[in-house]
Amino acid sequence: MRFRVCKVDSAVQSICMTERAPFVVDDCDLPGLQSAVSKLAGFGYSEKAVRERLGVDDLAGLPWRATPIYRAERLASGDPLACAIDLFLLQGALRPGDLQTMFSPSECDLLIRAGLLAISPTGLARARASLFPVGDRLIFSDHAWPELPHPGSYPVPADHVMAVGLDSRHLARCTTRRPFRTALDVCTGSGIHGLLASSHTERVVAVDINPRAAACTLFNAGVLGIPNVETVVGDLFEAVNGERYDLITANPPFVPSPLDSLRFRDGGRSGEDIQKRIVAGLPRHLAPGGRAQIVTELGEREGEPLVNRLRAWLDGAPLDIHILRLGEHTAEKYAVGHAQGEDYSAYLESVDAWAANLRAHAYTRVVSLVISFEWSDPQFGPPWDRVDEAPPPRRDAGAEIDAIFEAERLVRRAGLPEMFQHSWVERAGPIAVLDAYLLGGAIDAKAKATLLGQALTMEYFLDVAEREILGRLDTRVAVPELIRSLKQFDEAMVIEALRSLLRQRLVRIGQ
Ligand SMILES: C[S@@+](CC[C@H](N)C(=O)[O-])C[C@H]1O[C@@H](n2cnc3c(N)ncnc32)[C@H](O)[C@@H]1O
Repeated sequence: MRFRVCKVDSAVQSICMTERAPFVVDDCDLPGLQSAVSKLAGFGYSEKAVRERLGVDDLAGLPWRATPIYRAERLASGDPLACAIDLFLLQGALRPGDLQTMFSPSECDLLIRAGLLAISPTGLARARASLFPVGDRLIFSDHAWPELPHPGSYPVPADHVMAVGLDSRHLARCTTRRPFRTALDVCTGSGIHGLLASSHTERVVAVDINPRAAACTLFNAGVLGIPNVETVVGDLFEAVNGERYDLITANPPFVPSPLDSLRFRDGGRSGEDIQKRIVAGLPRHLAPGGRAQIVTELGEREGEPLVNRLRAWLDGAPLDIHILRLGEHTAEKYAVGHAQGEDYSAYLESVDAWAANLRAHAYTRVVSLVISFEWSDPQFGPPWDRVDEAPPPRRDAGAEIDAIFEAERLVRRAGLPEMFQHSWVERAGPIAVLDAYLLGGAIDAKAKATLLGQALTMEYFLDVAEREILGRLDTRVAVPELIRSLKQFDEAMVIEALRSLLRQRLVRIGQ
């Protein structure tokens, strides 16, 4: 395989020459392969259409146990899209007639030569790699359910290239999509984040320690016709030492595992072995004005804010940190969900080992996070950190994370109260306010507000002054007028409430 990429590591080259298919294609076959894959797109093989056909909210986390149901209830028509989904997503076997609804005989030969398709002696066709629709991009990787004694059992081969999973999609949706000069995707796997970054970045470097993952990334770049992604085999930042990047993305192995057996999944017994090194490396590799974003899970201990651990790993480097909590599992649920065993008693032993490992680290919960970092600007005061909570976004939320960084800078500006004197405020959009009354010694009104129409649905508890301000913002109001009208609160309290509402992006300000 010799695509037009700027840098092909020798380890990738040797994999391409010697290793097993898939992710190997000769230059002369590439145009044909590109056209066969774009034919799939023509059948409607995109994230939205596949989701609709399967009747699921999200393609991430399709359960292999449900594949017979999807086949019977959603794919029985046998049209090209149904066949493509069965073959490339559900890992099904197609009869020759079904295959021919999608590909010509010469295209089938090409897919076989490229290691993407295998035909059994009985004529059944199976894909040897999965093809994941991510937006309108199609990304190959090894199968989500490796063909082992039973799907989901372990271990998978050490050079397994991780499928596009829930965590991959969380990061893809939270990544800022503003234009950058350079991007670095560490722990690239299938290359998903590097390939997505290539559309808004001049030059992308994708690093993985697994040469087969680097080969897969290169293969995907070739099939998608993406010229600006370079692939490097190496250990995190080692391969790019001395270089700084405007965008850094990472989906590291983060699972706190008693086995530490899956290189693409396990972050050592603490879950932190790899992610700690990535965070520690940011000050040496993030360019001024750039953004680093990591999707991860962290074990949480009672009474210890997660940000303390991030600050310790940064070793005093002045970075602003935004932590987006997307969900959490109790330690028990996490152990039960990750345990494996061929029979009942082996499974229970495994539960015990996973739970004991979490206990040993005093983790009471494991939290799914997207963490965003930027260099702190001293004109906005000391480095800040902020935690928000939202259900995983179903569409791009990068611009909303950008807006959070902007809001933090705005409310930290010196002279904000003076600026208020010449400003108006209005609601930032439609806001749902839920009032609740907590009965205590006195009746105390509390309310929860959510800005509607966002990819990140965040709830924010309003205090009395904030509730009152929002109630008066049916139309745009000059701030001095607002302060005068809220006679029950002193000016400092109104200013503080406005600052807080701006921070939550519930109101916007202008002059
Ligand atoms: C969780 S997978 C993420 C794959 C892909 N980025 C995604 O989001 O779907 C983690 C990847 O990190 C790679 N990896 C593990 N240790 C690494 C290291 N020390 N340096 C570089 N890559 C590493 C694994 O080979 C694997 O491809």
